[in-house]
Amino acid sequence: MAASILIVEDEPSVREILCWRLSEEGYRCVTVPSAREALQALEGDAGFELMISDIRMPGMSGVDLLKSVRTMMQDMAVVMVTAVSDVNTAIETLRLGAYDYITKPFNLDEVCIAVERALEKRELILRNRDYQLHLEEKVEEQTRELRVLYLDAFKSLVSALEAKDKYTEGHSRRVTIYAVLIARKMGLAPEIIHKIHLAGLMHDIGKIGIPETLLNKSGALTPEEYSSLNRHPIISARILRPILRDPEVLDFVRHHHENFDGSGGPEGLAGEEIPLGARILAVADAFDAITSDRPYREAGTVPFALVEITRNSGIQFDPQVVAAFREFVVEYFTGVEYLRPVVMRIFPELQSSSPDFEQVLAQEKS
Ligand SMILES: [Fe+2]
Repeated sequence: MAASILIVEDEPSVREILCWRLSEEGYRCVTVPSAREALQALEGDAGFELMISDIRMPGMSGVDLLKSVRTMMQDMAVVMVTAVSDVNTAIETLRLGAYDYITKPFNLDEVCIAVERALEKRELILRNRDYQLHLEEKVEEQTRELRVLYLDAFKSLVSALEAKDKYTEGHSRRVTIYAVLIARKMGLAPEIIHKIHLAGLMHDIGKIGIPETLLNKSGALTPEEYSSLNRHPIISARILRPILRDPEVLDFVRHHHENFDGSGGPEGLAGEEIPLGARILAVADAFDAITSDRPYREAGTVPFALVEITRNSGIQFDPQVVAAFREFVVEYFTGVEYLRPVVMRIFPELQSSSPDFEQVLAQEKS
């Protein structure tokens, strides 16, 4: 749409010729003979994109008009018209917010160029302001997109592992869900829960470096095989380090097989030396291991898992984590169906960071 221009000029012939030429160029022009009338016109119509104003006019000067316009409407482009003898005042108007000035007697082509340039500058300023205003939104949107991509990359790594190891199928996601629910029960902050979520998804990825024959072996493991299998938390952390810069998440992964009494690995950490996320993952991991089929035995029941894990509280597991775990298991697995939607409502951050969370929960129903 053509721009609207307000022409403020006390000399009728100059006013008319400006209006004629700029209308020829396709602009919508309104002319007024004084600054006072210009202000009235601007109050009545906020749609002007540009004002061309003479500096010397009887009554209110073009400079005072410019000052008023700048307080009223910041976004209007203003081009001043001045006599050659008054160039210093014209320069002063640039400081007051005019975009440009033209000197009388002017060439009409020159006027058109000045108008065009001033409108372009205005457009640029508006766009820039819009960009600044929406920058935060855009950054947030990009962060969301990156987060989804990031999780997708994780998921494909997990799928690669699950394709290789039958036992791990769905394990990482179930462990993640259990760990997150325990963390919520413990009242942990959303940032920590998000880290536990990532660590849960990836905790066993190091098994990708362990031979399939060993992963799917149905008989008892030799001590060498056992120690080779036990290296997977270290391999997991090593694989993840280049893509996961967060040392806390890497520590959760690295220590998910530490035991509370110090008898686990890979470093034999004990008690609170073991990162809290790792202590939570250990319980979630054990719960899923007991309640899933393994190459050498059938799945244990939930009550059996509850008893086993409670029996190991303070030995293999952190008693505080076990207490929260018991609460969650009792609520979640005792057929309290109405709790599922409640769980989804109180864990909204899980839905945003893992879009298929609800679906996974539904699948876990059986
Ligand atoms: Fe593991």
